[in-house]
Amino acid sequence: MIKVIELKNIKRYYRPAKEVVVRALRGIDLDMESGEFVSIMGPSGSGKSTLMNIIGCLDRPDEGTYFLDGIETSTSSQDAFAFIRNKKIGFVFQAFNLLARTTALENVELPLFYNRTDSKKSGKASRKMAEQVLNEVGLGDRMDHVPSQLSGGQQQRVAIARAMVNDPAFILADEPTGNLDTEMSMEIMTLFQELNNRGKTIIMVTHEPDLAVYSKRIVTLRDGELVSDMPVTNRRYAANDLANWKKEHELLSGISTSSMEERVPPRGERISPLGEMQ
Ligand SMILES: Nc1ncnc2c1ncn2[C@@H]1O[C@H](COP(=O)(O)OP(=O)(O)OP(=O)(O)O)[C@@H](O)[C@H]1O
Ligand SMILES: [Mg+2]
Repeated sequence: MIKVIELKNIKRYYRPAKEVVVRALRGIDLDMESGEFVSIMGPSGSGKSTLMNIIGCLDRPDEGTYFLDGIETSTSSQDAFAFIRNKKIGFVFQAFNLLARTTALENVELPLFYNRTDSKKSGKASRKMAEQVLNEVGLGDRMDHVPSQLSGGQQQRVAIARAMVNDPAFILADEPTGNLDTEMSMEIMTLFQELNNRGKTIIMVTHEPDLAVYSKRIVTLRDGELVSDMPVTNRRYAANDLANWKKEHELLSGISTSSMEERVPPRGERISPLGEMQ
């Protein structure tokens, strides 16, 4: 079976000034297979973003080899490298990174235009694919909304649909719930677990142990080294936790929160869609 990711002895050193070397990654060996749901954890400065950038083909290591879906990326040309990135990886960011004046449908369609290697693929077919993934993330009735007309959780679902539309080898999510409240975070984790159950491979960077327990495996970095790689033994199911959370919330507030669409978050809970809170 071909591994989706095969990292061997990956080293990445930054040289911010003369005679200063930051050893951000000191020889990482890491494999991932299709269908995994992996959390990458570790304290600030441990090398998570550096590793994500390499896994996401946004950066190359100084030493070591990286096979993505069986393709050696370390020696590929710039063009091939960019092609692999666009074709094989679906990115989800903390700040959603949607185009503001563009509808959900158009945001999701965008990667299909960048990636159109087959000129025969019509605009109509692209539209159909975008509609299909938006339906999959539960936004079939919000396709014509622009980001400001969507909740934070809905915006992140649009971003997840955009990440999926090319049918990538894996979804790479960097703190995907960092800008979301508890309820919306659990909605996103529910969606990730559903997608993973349907076979999608997911890699997520998170600071929160509470979120990592929804994945299947936790890889921990410290000082640029991989210090732990464990299956999640106490795995939790976000849909259950979300249902319980809603029940408790209803009891506490006396307000029905059973309809997601009708719920208006209290003032303090509103989160800027552009992540201005950071
Ligand atoms: N462009 C850069 N130039 C120099 N040093 C850098 C650069 N980027 C990162 N570093 C250093 O490399 C190390 C790893 O940084 P990285 O951003 O990968 O950590 P992280 O685990 O993502 O941290 P955080 O949780 O705070 O996001 C840190 O010591 C950081 O200061
Ligand atoms: Mg980081």
